[in-house]
Amino acid sequence: MTIDEPGGARRGAREEWDARAASFDDEPDHGLRDPLVRRAWADRLADWLPGRPGAVLDVGCGTGSLSLLASESGHRVTGVDLSPAMVALARAKLAGRDARFLVGDASAPPVGGQRFDAVLARHVLWTLPDPARTLRGWYDLLRPAGRLVLVEGVWGAVDPVGIPAERLTALLAPIAPDIRLERLSDDPALWGGPVADERYAVLARASRDDRGSGNDRASRTVGLAGTAGAAGRERGGDRSGFMPGAS
Ligand SMILES: C[S@@+](CC[C@H](N)C(=O)[O-])C[C@H]1O[C@@H](n2cnc3c(N)ncnc32)[C@H](O)[C@@H]1O
Repeated sequence: MTIDEPGGARRGAREEWDARAASFDDEPDHGLRDPLVRRAWADRLADWLPGRPGAVLDVGCGTGSLSLLASESGHRVTGVDLSPAMVALARAKLAGRDARFLVGDASAPPVGGQRFDAVLARHVLWTLPDPARTLRGWYDLLRPAGRLVLVEGVWGAVDPVGIPAERLTALLAPIAPDIRLERLSDDPALWGGPVADERYAVLARASRDDRGSGNDRASRTVGLAGTAGAAGRERGGDRSGFMPGAS
């Protein structure tokens, strides 16, 4: 599958990510080669993704490290990435599993009419030109009660890149009825050591009966919980911390 390329910008990005593919997994949180780092991400994903096996779309999947964790939990994974080199590595990483990987644009994933129980994106949204529009598109790919799992951050002190949590939650507020923010900077196991910059996950769940994006939500909560999974378990919700029937 190929992507349409109206200009050189996307082609430039593709070449840049292609060039980074071979060494991408050398970073602890990319390759998840350290068992402690791998366990830390597996535990978080178990909290964030649906408790029952479902269909997961990993947008900007890179080499497929999170796709593999999702697959190991029983989910059927579709991965989409702009970079053919990243996709090739993801296909090799998940060979023999119920998973498929497509070369395509995360802003408009080439999945046809398929809908998903979760759309997962780690460290991708900040690279895209129109995050608000992209989030609406991802939200519309969800099945009822599906969820967005967005792992983002801000990197670098001098010339920081990324997307602050407040901006991401503000972009999501008109779209999703139930949003939770989980801070991740204080968990060195996720990163292979301590980090000083902002790292977080935002979970946004679609309502059970109305998936379409829009501004007419009757019920909208923004939960800024530190440990959404633990809260969910205490309250009898699933491990994501979302309450059954809350929306
Ligand atoms: C920082 S990496 C993250 C990879 C993976 N999500 C992970 O957490 O290991 C960003 C990924 O987004 C992909 N990417 C960048 N722009 C994209 C776009 N417009 N459409 C699809 N993928 C894109 C890159 O090729 C790269 O694999």
